[in-house]
Amino acid sequence: MKPALRIIPMTSAHRRACNDIVSVSEPWKTLGEGVDFKTYIALKQAYVCTVSYAGKREVAGFVIFTADPVFARGGYLRAIGVAPAMRRHGIGGKLLAFMESMIARRCENIFLCVSSFNRSAQSFYSKLGYKRAGALPGLLMPGRSEYIYWKRLRPLNSLKNEKNFFTTKAPRH
Ligand SMILES: CC(C)(COP(=O)(O)OP(=O)(O)OC[C@H]1O[C@@H](n2cnc3c(N)ncnc32)[C@H](O)[C@@H]1OP(=O)(O)O)[C@@H](O)C(=O)NCCC(=O)NCCS
Repeated sequence: MKPALRIIPMTSAHRRACNDIVSVSEPWKTLGEGVDFKTYIALKQAYVCTVSYAGKREVAGFVIFTADPVFARGGYLRAIGVAPAMRRHGIGGKLLAFMESMIARRCENIFLCVSSFNRSAQSFYSKLGYKRAGALPGLLMPGRSEYIYWKRLRPLNSLKNEKNFFTTKAPRH
């Protein structure tokens, strides 16, 4: 039987499992950093994918993003992680698809950063339609870069006539 997956808002009850994923995963191990889940829960920007199997519900992965057009008409993927034992079963792809559907409501694009040493994540994003759009050398670590990845979610200007679309207007004189 296939385990049932569900994506729901992250709560403080999920934090421990998400911290466990971060503590054994790149890029956080190499960077020596954690993720401030508490802040993103409060901002309502954090979600978990839970898996129900043999009567138990566990956290399989998480995603944190901002769905507002914060840069170049795009939302921003801040962090994504899947428990090592559950990787390569489509859970990361499911989390990305969920995020993209939320961001596409108000943005034409999605952007993210991925570390130059995090090759498996680069393959993951490429497979799912993201293109490398630039590099920020030494941003987080000397000798390493953060690559900017970009995916267009909606046709150019397709949101212009919608109520939620905003862009910078020239001031009236
Ligand atoms: C990146 C990550 C979220 C992917 O999650 P996942 O659940 O394994 O992803 P999926 O199963 O949906 O993978 C979809 C496709 O991406 C590609 N892919 C995923 N992981 C890959 C890897 N390690 N190497 C090469 N390709 C990979 C494959 O094409 C895969 O399809 P396939 O398994 O049918 O070949 C997961 O590996 C992870 O948590 N990594 C550590 C944290 C991290 O790097 N986060 C990103 C920071 S920017």
